[in-house]
Amino acid sequence: MSLPVRRLRQMSTVLVTALLSLLGGGAAAAGDATVHPDPWPRATWPLGKDAALEQRVATLMSKMSVEEKVGQLIQADILSVTPEDVRKYRLGSILAGGNSKPDGRLLANAEQWKALADAFHRAAMDTSGGHVAIPLLFGVDAVHGHNGTVGATLFPQNSALGATRDPELMREIGEATAEEVRATGLNWTFAPALSVPQDVRWGRSYEGYSQDPTIVASYAAATVEGLQGKVGTPQFLDGMHVVASAKHFLADGGTKDGRDQGDAQISEEVLRTVHAAGYPPAIDAGVQTIMASFSSWNGQKMHGNKGLLTDVLKTHMDFQGFVVGDWNAHGQVPGCSNDDCPASINAGMDMLMAPDSWRGLYDHTLAEVKSGKIPMDRVNDAVARILRVKFRAGLFEAGLPSANPLAMKSAEVVGSAGHRAIARRAVRESLVLLKNNGGVLPVDPRKHVLVAGDGADNISRQSGGWTLTWQGAGLKNENFPGAQSIGAGIAEQVKAAGGTVEIAADGRHAGKPDVAIVVFGEDPYAEFQGDIPNLMYRPGDEHDLELIRHLRGEGIPVVAVFLSGRPLWVNREINAADAFVAAWLPGSEGGGVADVLLRTRDGRVAHDFHGKLSYAWPSTAVHGQGAPQFPLGFGLTYADTKPLTALSEVSGITGEQIPVGNYLERGKAVHGYAFTLVGADGASVPGDVSPAGTSDGGLRMTALDYKAQEDARRFAWSKDQARLSVRARAPMDLDRETNGDVLLVTTVRVDALPDREAWVGMGCGKGCEGRVELGPQLAKLAQGAWVRIGVPLKCFRKAGADMHRIEQPFNWGAGKGAELSIARVALGTDVDQVMECAK
Ligand code: BGC
Ligand code: BGC
Repeated sequence: MSLPVRRLRQMSTVLVTALLSLLGGGAAAAGDATVHPDPWPRATWPLGKDAALEQRVATLMSKMSVEEKVGQLIQADILSVTPEDVRKYRLGSILAGGNSKPDGRLLANAEQWKALADAFHRAAMDTSGGHVAIPLLFGVDAVHGHNGTVGATLFPQNSALGATRDPELMREIGEATAEEVRATGLNWTFAPALSVPQDVRWGRSYEGYSQDPTIVASYAAATVEGLQGKVGTPQFLDGMHVVASAKHFLADGGTKDGRDQGDAQISEEVLRTVHAAGYPPAIDAGVQTIMASFSSWNGQKMHGNKGLLTDVLKTHMDFQGFVVGDWNAHGQVPGCSNDDCPASINAGMDMLMAPDSWRGLYDHTLAEVKSGKIPMDRVNDAVARILRVKFRAGLFEAGLPSANPLAMKSAEVVGSAGHRAIARRAVRESLVLLKNNGGVLPVDPRKHVLVAGDGADNISRQSGGWTLTWQGAGLKNENFPGAQSIGAGIAEQVKAAGGTVEIAADGRHAGKPDVAIVVFGEDPYAEFQGDIPNLMYRPGDEHDLELIRHLRGEGIPVVAVFLSGRPLWVNREINAADAFVAAWLPGSEGGGVADVLLRTRDGRVAHDFHGKLSYAWPSTAVHGQGAPQFPLGFGLTYADTKPLTALSEVSGITGEQIPVGNYLERGKAVHGYAFTLVGADGASVPGDVSPAGTSDGGLRMTALDYKAQEDARRFAWSKDQARLSVRARAPMDLDRETNGDVLLVTTVRVDALPDREAWVGMGCGKGCEGRVELGPQLAKLAQGAWVRIGVPLKCFRKAGADMHRIEQPFNWGAGKGAELSIARVALGTDVDQVMECAK
C-alpha cells in the first residue's frame, strides 16, 4: 500500500475517534494553544539532499548583503510597488491581489500580464549598482483556473470539485491552470486551498473541497502535482508548471461561527485530524510553499504561532519549502503592525505578504536584523528556503517571462479548447441531483424549453468570487470571451436536436414551454463579504421561489438549477420544483450542465449524474441544528426513481433576516439599525417615516422613487451642521473589511450642491469619528443621475475612526442648500465610482 493511501485510512479512523470523543466530551480541551508535535502526522519531503543546489544557494548567499537578504523576505502587491522599487529594494516577490491588475486596470489580458512580468523581471535581474541578480516569484490567486485573466478557462470552484470525488481530474485541472498562468508570465499560484470548512456560514467555504478531511487529503497531492509537476520527473517545476501554495495553515475552515479570519476554538486533536489532513500529502508531493492563515487557534494568531509553523510544520512534518504570509496578516499579531512584525518572522514565517506596507516593513525588518531582534540564523534559513524554491523552479535560467514557450503562444494556451474540455467534464461530474420527481429529468431537447431565473444567462453568477475581480462583482457576460452561460449551453443543444428554446430571466415566455429550467442562486462573493449569520438563502427576497411556483402554477414542469458556493437552506425551493440540481459554481463552461440535464437528440442519456455531496445539505437554516436533509455522499442518478416527499418548510429562524453589511435599503434602515436626522442644534428625530424634518428646520427628508415606488429618500439642507445618521445596536468590528479593499457603497443622486460641501463619516463613539470630505468629488458627478459611489473603509481609518468599534456606519452631512437623494447604503465592492480619501 502506498504511503498516502495508508495515511488516508489511518486518518478516517482517527477522524471518527475525534468526532466521537468530541461528542462524548473526551477530547483534549479547546482553549489551550500549546502544541504537542509528537502525535501529529509525519510527512516525507520528497526531494533528497541536493549538494549542487546547496552549493548554488551558499555561493549566492555569500554575495548577498543584509539588505538584499531582507528584501527576499518581503512580497509587495503590484498596485503599490514599481519595477523601480524592486530594482532598488531587491524584493523577493510580488503578487497581484484579487483586485490588482497591470497598470491599475479593472480587467487584464495575457499581453498586459506578460508586459508587467517582463518589466519586473528586468528590474530584479538588474545588477547595476553591484547587486546580485535574483529572479522574482510572481504570485497570483489562480484558484479556479487563472481566474484573474480575461479569456482564461474558469474551472468549477473547489466545493464543486469535491463532489466529483475524482483526484485524477484535480491533476488535469492543476496542469491546465499552471499552463495558463505560465502563459501570462507569472510563476506562482496561491493554491490549492486545503481548508476543511466545518461551518458553511464561512464565505470562503467554496474554496474548500469538502468538510470531510479524507476528501481534502485525497485531492491534495494530485492538485499539487498537477500545478508543479511530479517530483522525480523532468516535468517537475519546468516551464509548463508553477510553484503551488497550500493554504491556509491552519484551520482557516475551523473558526467559530464560520467567521473569516476568526478564531478556531478547537482541541489540538481536531486541529490535527481534521484541519491538517491535506498538508502531509501535499508535503509528500513536494509543495514548495505553504501560506499561513489569517485566523487564530484558541486565541493565538497563526502568523505568530511558532509551535505550529516551526515545530509542527517545518520540523515534525519536514516541510522544506517556505512559509508565506497572507495579506498584511502579520499586522494582526499582538505587538505588530502591517509595517513591523519581527514576531512573525521569529515564529517561522519566511516571506511576509506586505501588499502596500512593504516599504515600512523592509525598513523595520532591516533594523531588527541589524539589532539582533531577528536572529541572523533565522534570516539565513528563510532566505535559503526562498532561494531553493527559485532554483528548483528554474527561475535563474528561465529568462524573460514572455520568452517562456507557453507565453510565446499565450493566445492559444489561455482558454484553449483542451482546457475548456477539462472544465466542462468537471462541471458534468460535479452536479449533484437532489430530487427528480416524475422523471422530469432528463429533458427531451426536441421539445420547447424555457430557461429562466437570473442565473440563466449570467456567467458571473455561475463563476462566483475570485473571478476577474476579487469579489467577482460588477461583471457582464461580455467580460468572459469564450465562455458559455448555462442558458446558452442548453440553447445550443436544444436547437441542435430540433427543439426550441426561450431564455428569460423573469420567466416570461411566448409559447407555453414543455419544461422550464430555472437557474438561480447566490450573488458572487469572496472573503468576509460572503460570511452569513445563518443558512437562509437570500433572506427577505423570495423572487426565485415565486418564479418557480408561478411556472408550476401554469402547469409547466420545473427543473431547479441552484448556483451556490455552499449548501444553503432551500427546502421551499426544493419542494416547489419537480427536480433540483445543486450545480455549485461551475465556472465558464455552462455547456456541461446541458450535457447532463438533456437527452441526446436520439433520446439517449449521454451523461448521468455523478456528483456526490462533499458537504452535508442542511434541513434548517440554523447551522448545526437537526440532522442533514441530505447527508455527505448523497447524490441521485437517473436510476433513482423514488419520488422525494415534501420537506419541512420550517427554517428554524425567527425575526426579520438581513444580510450583514447593509445599512439602508430602499431608503430605510435595515433591521438592527436606527436611522435619524440630526439638526444643527444636535437634536435628532427618527428617520423611519417620511416626510420628516429636524425641529430646527436644518434638514428635511421626503420620499422619492429610485427603482420602485418610494424606495429612496431625498434630503434637503438649510443649515450647515445638520446631518443624517445610521446607528448600530452594538459596536461592529470592521477591521478585516478595512484591511481588504471593502468600500462603503452609497447609491446616491446629487440634486444640488451649491457650496460643494458634503462629507461622509463613520462614528465610533465620542471624539472618534472619521469623516471623509466628498464635496468636490460629488460636485463632479452628473447632477440628477443615480450613481453608486464607494468610499474605501481605509479612508475612515485614516481620518481617525477606530474600525474595531464602529457604532455609526453611516453619517452624512452637507452644506446649506444641498439636496441629495439616497437609496441604499451597504458595504461592498461593486460601484460605479471609487472616491478618494482626499481631505
Ligand atoms: C487571501 C489569500 C490570498 C491573498 C492574496 C488574502 O486576503 O486570504 O487567500 O492568497 O489575499 O490575494
Ligand atoms: C485584495 C485581495 C486580498 C484582500 C485581503 C483585497 O484588496 O485584492 O487579494 O485577498 O484584499 O483582505
